[in-house]
Amino acid sequence: MQNKDFLHSSINKIIQGDCLEVMRQIPDDSIDVTFADPPFNLKKKYNNYSDKRQVDEYVAWCQKWLYEMVRITKPTGSIFVHNIPKWLIYFGSYLNEIAIFRHWIAWDAMGSPLGRTLLPNHYGILYYVKSDDFKFFDIRLLYKRCRKCKYILQDYGGKKNQMHQFGPLVSDVWTDIHRIRHKKRRDEHPCQLPIHLLERLLLMSCDEGDIVLDPFIGTGATAIAAKKMGRRFIGIDIDPKYIQIAERKIEETEQTKINGCFASAFLGKVITIREKDWEKLKEAFYIPETPLELEKTEILLDQEKRRHFKYEILNTSKSSLFFGIEEKE
Ligand SMILES: C[S@@+](CC[C@H](N)C(=O)[O-])C[C@H]1O[C@@H](n2cnc3c(N)ncnc32)[C@H](O)[C@@H]1O
Repeated sequence: MQNKDFLHSSINKIIQGDCLEVMRQIPDDSIDVTFADPPFNLKKKYNNYSDKRQVDEYVAWCQKWLYEMVRITKPTGSIFVHNIPKWLIYFGSYLNEIAIFRHWIAWDAMGSPLGRTLLPNHYGILYYVKSDDFKFFDIRLLYKRCRKCKYILQDYGGKKNQMHQFGPLVSDVWTDIHRIRHKKRRDEHPCQLPIHLLERLLLMSCDEGDIVLDPFIGTGATAIAAKKMGRRFIGIDIDPKYIQIAERKIEETEQTKINGCFASAFLGKVITIREKDWEKLKEAFYIPETPLELEKTEILLDQEKRRHFKYEILNTSKSSLFFGIEEKE
């Protein structure tokens, strides 16, 4: 059933169908990154899918597609699964048998209380690999600053001289990326992920040209992030309506590159970079000269240098608002 031609003909496409049937046609060890954001079994209103199964039934179904994700991922690749903690503990105990645990990334994004619970304030992203030879790149994010006075919130005390000019290395707790709340950035989909969340995962785990597969692509966040970061993608969704929205947005998406390096930007600010790209990227920024200044001044793309870049806002009809930065020829 597995077939190299099927793999090649699926690249940079969204396939309509059941993810299990589609993934079963993809050869072992052939995908660089698999990312899944399945229905959470929380009775959400999808077009084409009932999000209300018995616990055993839901977990057994999830194990089937988790198995396929691990099987098709390359030994150098990464496997990411996004869900609420309630389900991730089941997934983790299964994945521990067939892959190697790297991290539980806590994505601090407020959820809604379900009654008699602590306020659910984080989602988890399980991060697994298949061998010790996995691709991994150190990633930096912007310093967290006071919204009014712009001072860095963390106190670096006597270590200010060691502060990186862009920002700290990314930890396993992500607090700087928010769920899409604004209507104008939403599609007609109950649980769309922010593109820059996926961009961070891709910058961390794979290279330009690598293949990223998402078995539950919805309205296309993973494919858009892949295209913006110069990766190839394969998306799967059961719902033709979501696929239609995804395809339109993918068509309108352009790469985000600064000084030859892929970087993740949101609403005009570069928010995630690869550590190894900083020497090239820094040429495009206004950087305060002393650590004391850096502590109170945001690092921004330099006004002068901005003239060398083409800025564009891609407003995809009534859906998402993206910010793309691309080097001028
Ligand atoms: C949580 S949403 C994914 C949202 C996506 N990450 C985004 O940002 O748009 C889950 C998706 O899985 C799709 N789905 C449900 N069952 C499926 C199946 N068996 N095979 C493929 N897709 C399925 C639904 O149509 C829905 O779009």
